[in-house]
Amino acid sequence: MGRMNTSPSRKEKDRRSRWWRASPFPPVILAPMAGITDSPYRILCMEHGASGTVSEMVSVEGLVRNNSNTWDMLRGIEGEAHCSIQFFGSNPPVFPDALEQIIERGHTPAAIDINMGCPVPKVVRSGAGAALMKDPATAVAIVAGLDRYLRKRGLRIPLWVKIRSGWDADSINAPALSAALEEAGADGITVHARTRAAFYSGEADWDVIAGVVDTVSVPVLGNGDVFAGADAARMLQSTGCAGVMVGRGALGRPWIFGEIGATLAGESPPEEPTPGRRIALLLGHLEMEEELRGSEGAARFMRKHVHWYTRGLPDSASLREEANRRGTAGDLGELLVRYAESLGFEVISRYAGGA
Ligand SMILES: Cc1cc2nc3c(=O)[nH]c(=O)nc-3n(C[C@H](O)[C@H](O)[C@H](O)COP(=O)(O)O)c2cc1C
Repeated sequence: MGRMNTSPSRKEKDRRSRWWRASPFPPVILAPMAGITDSPYRILCMEHGASGTVSEMVSVEGLVRNNSNTWDMLRGIEGEAHCSIQFFGSNPPVFPDALEQIIERGHTPAAIDINMGCPVPKVVRSGAGAALMKDPATAVAIVAGLDRYLRKRGLRIPLWVKIRSGWDADSINAPALSAALEEAGADGITVHARTRAAFYSGEADWDVIAGVVDTVSVPVLGNGDVFAGADAARMLQSTGCAGVMVGRGALGRPWIFGEIGATLAGESPPEEPTPGRRIALLLGHLEMEEELRGSEGAARFMRKHVHWYTRGLPDSASLREEANRRGTAGDLGELLVRYAESLGFEVISRYAGGA
């Protein structure tokens, strides 16, 4: 099929393509992760050098039906200049309606991203997420409908799509689908180089990213198995992608963005934070979650983060067990302060000295 041609609107599309923070080096972006990449965590990753972030996936149906749980997932986003909102759904006309609702409530997102990669059975059964890899007509209709809406309203919001390699190993269609999505109006494509069938297992096949880069003229972000600066450099070099997206590598390690940024800048990466610094970051994260979710909500939400931030630290298994029993942010914070002290670190925190 070859490269898709340049439509008359190409110039306008080019202006819409970038939504991350400008930098002399390729962008390194926090991947969308449901239940994880909420506003506090996204802000923390930006503070550590991420170029941009993506919200958790939000249901377009939930937004237009005014579902309060769905809207809650966007709390805090108004202040985030480089955060893209990820939509999922399967009914094309609902997407522009959802975006309109967000704009009506006073927020213009840095970008919109459409989820075509979620492998979860409930999502796939509804025809959304990775099911769209098998349904190019609907995938194209979603992008074309949003593109029409953006043009009609004169909005410069970049329109991105996040895809997988294909449905399964026998149906790798990322390059062909990307070409069709570009033609429909997509300003950029993120490729998680695994099939739906693989979920998150096995190694990502970066050749598929290179195949998409060769097929489209819009920017491509590569995704899958970037856990360190050297991985990011290798992905950029071997695929020609415009930037990288980091998911699991950032769990409990928001500082990974500084490490990757330094590597790409040819500088020696900063030292891994000490255990004390890790706990201090975790406490700062807990504070932000308490403001967002209240004391009990934050304690519950932070359990998994406690697990990730403290991986590999002395006696962390019993810390995590104990953390699961703490029902308020104050109690959890106090536990973490005492744990840092037991390792010989004094941390400054609102939770120090009992809350
Ligand atoms: C817990 C979890 C939740 C995720 N949620 C989403 C999501 O909401 N939307 C999405 O496009 N991808 C989601 N992903 C996939 C990631 O964005 C990313 O594509 C995948 O983890 C591969 O990148 P990595 O190897 O850097 O982790 C999720 C991944 C994980 C582990």
